[in-house]
Amino acid sequence: MLPPLSQSQGSGFADEFAIVPERDQDTDVIDALMDASFGQERHNLTVYKLRDGYPPVRQLGFIAMDQQGKARASIRYWPIQVEGSSLRYLLLGPLAVDPTIRGGGLGKALVSRSLDRAVELGFDACLLVGEPSYYGSFGFTNATALGFKLPGWVELRRFLVRELQSNALAKPESRGLINPVKTRTK
Ligand SMILES: CC(C)(COP(=O)(O)OP(=O)(O)OC[C@H]1O[C@@H](n2cnc3c(N)ncnc32)[C@H](O)[C@@H]1OP(=O)(O)O)[C@@H](O)C(=O)NCCC(=O)NCCS
Repeated sequence: MLPPLSQSQGSGFADEFAIVPERDQDTDVIDALMDASFGQERHNLTVYKLRDGYPPVRQLGFIAMDQQGKARASIRYWPIQVEGSSLRYLLLGPLAVDPTIRGGGLGKALVSRSLDRAVELGFDACLLVGEPSYYGSFGFTNATALGFKLPGWVELRRFLVRELQSNALAKPESRGLINPVKTRTK
């Protein structure tokens, strides 16, 4: 029997899936899930300038695993930096749930679990491009209004940010142009 999702995650799949750290063996399944959810053209999006060729934050990769041990939903994060700031920032995503099991709470369970871990790991703030109505319940608000910029086009209403540590974004120098944080790996 898999460990159940905690009640606070509100999953309709509490007995069928477990939220666990991503494993090396999940890579191909996750790639297929992202292709099915977003298509190959996702790599043209501005956020992929911050992902492609850079390693994700390993401790923040989580999956929803079914009873056969297969990854059926995934969330990953990339480290990013803001020009002129020494704070530790994250880019949330991609997040995707197998189309056959959407709407049962797995997406929210993955966001909730991984954000809790990001706070524990000491990251200061998290940015993303996604639906405000979905991420608003996790405390995300408009990032452009606070002075953040992505290195390319983005639908401004979908560009969101949330502090992970109290008052992390209080100072104006904590907001600005976002860049990748690591040396390229390929
Ligand atoms: C978006 C996604 C991750 C949500 O995961 P999920 O497990 O299906 O959804 P959850 O059970 O966690 O949440 C369901 C709630 O989210 C809402 N929701 C689902 N997709 C949404 C979307 N694209 N925009 C806004 N709200 C959405 C539902 O209406 C529902 O609202 P309710 O709780 O008020 O009834 C999933 O539908 C998915 O993989 N979609 C395709 C990929 C994608 O769009 N990823 C997000 C990119 S930012």
